[in-house]
Amino acid sequence: MAVITFYESIMIGIFDSGVGGMTVARAIEQMCPGYPLVYFGDIAKTPYGSKSPDTIKNYSINNTEFLLQHGAELIVIACNSAASTARETLNQQYNVPMLDVITPAVNRAAEISKNGRIGVIGTRATIKSGIYEQGISRQRPKSKVLSQACPLLVPLVEEGWLNKQETKMIIRRYLHSMRSKQIDTLVLGCTHYPLLKHLIGPRIGRRVQLIDSSVEVAKAVHSFLDAHPDSAHRLYNPEKKSRFFVSDLTETAQQLAAKIFGRPIPLEKTNA
Ligand code: DGL
Repeated sequence: MAVITFYESIMIGIFDSGVGGMTVARAIEQMCPGYPLVYFGDIAKTPYGSKSPDTIKNYSINNTEFLLQHGAELIVIACNSAASTARETLNQQYNVPMLDVITPAVNRAAEISKNGRIGVIGTRATIKSGIYEQGISRQRPKSKVLSQACPLLVPLVEEGWLNKQETKMIIRRYLHSMRSKQIDTLVLGCTHYPLLKHLIGPRIGRRVQLIDSSVEVAKAVHSFLDAHPDSAHRLYNPEKKSRFFVSDLTETAQQLAAKIFGRPIPLEKTNA
């Protein structure tokens, strides 16, 4: 009889500034069943997008250290603000494979847009970095990328204001100028935004295709596992439960986690 070895505590590590990255964790769980996850949401310090690049880099290093200490052998940067600011630093500093939410969304946008007019919404840090424009223009030089920073959306999601009039008004205001620019594709360049898809979609218009970076990065994780059977073998462990750590434990975070996963998720508070 074949003996299957399950490696203890080796997991896919995922981090975000808060609960938004759980949309990524959920998408990975659905696309790659049997691969346990260790998640870290830095709720105590959210939002990252309004902080300086140096601060975001330091937070991202902390988060990576935490995940490595908990057995991560593949790291997913599930935060656009962190990926746009700290991706290179992390890649230079750590000898562990890393995937981020930006690259797969850039590729998808460049691939599916018909008219080459692509909108990107994200936090101030992400938009200011210009990372989506650079990536999309590299893939598709004749495209036109229109970006809009939406700094209020992360706090609204973390607050659980997913259906409030105020949230709708703010989204309307942010998308106002983009609506007249004939975009046919809109990248949700923040992992919190899938939780506002039901408001963003109708507002930007049905003809505009939304790119959900959580789904795109989950596909990238799936491809990575296919391309690296040794890592896939080490990481696969259907017996082991995923763990979800947060730097601050709030009732709203617990409710949002349950909403994202469709089941209660035990959040563990850590002082990391
Ligand atoms: N979910 C994070 C992102 O994708 C939000 C970052 C923040 O806290 O600003 O950018």
